[in-house]
Amino acid sequence: MERINAVITGVGGYVPNYILDNEEMSRIVDTSDEWIMERIGVKTRHILKPEQGSGTSYLMTRAVKQLLEKTQVDPDSIEAVICATTTPDYHFPSTASLVIGNLGLKNAYGFDMEAACAGFLYALEQGASLITSGRHKRIILCGGDHMSSMTNYQDRNTCPIFGDGAACVLMEATTEELGLMDSYLRVDGTGYEHLHMAAGGSAQMPSHESVDQRLHFVYQEGRTVFKNAVTKMSDAVETIAKRNGLDKDNIAWVVPHQANIRIETAVARRIGLDESKVMINVDHMANTSGGTLPLCLWEYEPQLKKGDKLIFTAFGAGFSWGASYLIWGYDGAAEAAKSPAEFYKEGTISREEWNEKRGVH
Ligand SMILES: CC(C)(COP(=O)(O)OP(=O)(O)OC[C@H]1O[C@@H](n2cnc3c(N)ncnc32)[C@H](O)[C@@H]1OP(=O)(O)O)[C@@H](O)C(=O)NCCC(=O)NCCS
Repeated sequence: MERINAVITGVGGYVPNYILDNEEMSRIVDTSDEWIMERIGVKTRHILKPEQGSGTSYLMTRAVKQLLEKTQVDPDSIEAVICATTTPDYHFPSTASLVIGNLGLKNAYGFDMEAACAGFLYALEQGASLITSGRHKRIILCGGDHMSSMTNYQDRNTCPIFGDGAACVLMEATTEELGLMDSYLRVDGTGYEHLHMAAGGSAQMPSHESVDQRLHFVYQEGRTVFKNAVTKMSDAVETIAKRNGLDKDNIAWVVPHQANIRIETAVARRIGLDESKVMINVDHMANTSGGTLPLCLWEYEPQLKKGDKLIFTAFGAGFSWGASYLIWGYDGAAEAAKSPAEFYKEGTISREEWNEKRGVH
């Protein structure tokens, strides 16, 4: 019997249109464009304002809607929707159930996956398992976060880092040698004290005190997280590259979690990869947590070619991290060209502007 692989066959995305730049950030906390650019590499981030909408389902519904319009697949053929997010709309029901309901997907079930910034990486592996087992043929994987909902805008150590956004991929069965080939995923359980949101869960229920103490926001020890992110993402990329015979000459793209420009370039250096082969959007999207990997695919889609070898890598709370090797399934430029022109209308950056920014013509 031929081996079934799980291949990505389309990408959709959405970012809200409000842009919070470093100039505005420096009026909110004691910081500067210079400091943020030097230490983090973020110039602007998209923020979902309450008057526009709320919840991660708002972002993901728009991303999936665009994916369905672009790919023209029958919505009734979608069998499952997995949403990787740390900012679900509610503890329950799941964000996936809201997205499915908003879009009227009649034959799908869905669930959320919480693995912080590594969420989409894990979703790729879980989604591929559903496909390669032969149980499903067509599913959607979403990654995204409404990070501004848990960002403390009184804490200059964390607030410049995060932004809001979501993107998604269509994953389908194929017998071609394409799609997710290998994953190396880990959690070590040592990360709580360095990166967490203390209250609001079952360990520390919401209370007047927890609100007064601002415990419903991200707490992060930047330096420890930084060191672990660089080491663990680099190790994971090296491991996945070695065991699949990948090196700087045959890797088309590394798709790293967008936490800090210095982390991304350090990972590229470790495997001797030219920085032009590293997808980067942290400069104008910031860290969208579960959204960073699929948002990279969304923006770089026109440059992706069938057969390109990609390594994804991510690191997040837990600590959770890993790397995956995927062979890209279609010619992105052709797909982007035949997509309805207006599909970027809800974002602030047009396809043309993105292409210009990335040097794609
Ligand atoms: C957060 C991060 C940018 C901080 O950069 P850093 O170089 O480690 O800076 P430090 O935390 O050591 O702080 C250095 C100084 O800058 C100050 N500082 C912190 N944030 C600042 C800001 N926004 N503006 C100006 N100064 C700031 C600190 O108060 C500190 O001052 P001090 O020396 O007088 O105490 C960096 O550690 C980082 O990117 N960490 C990883 C973040 C991440 O990836 N998170 C998500 C994981 S999934």
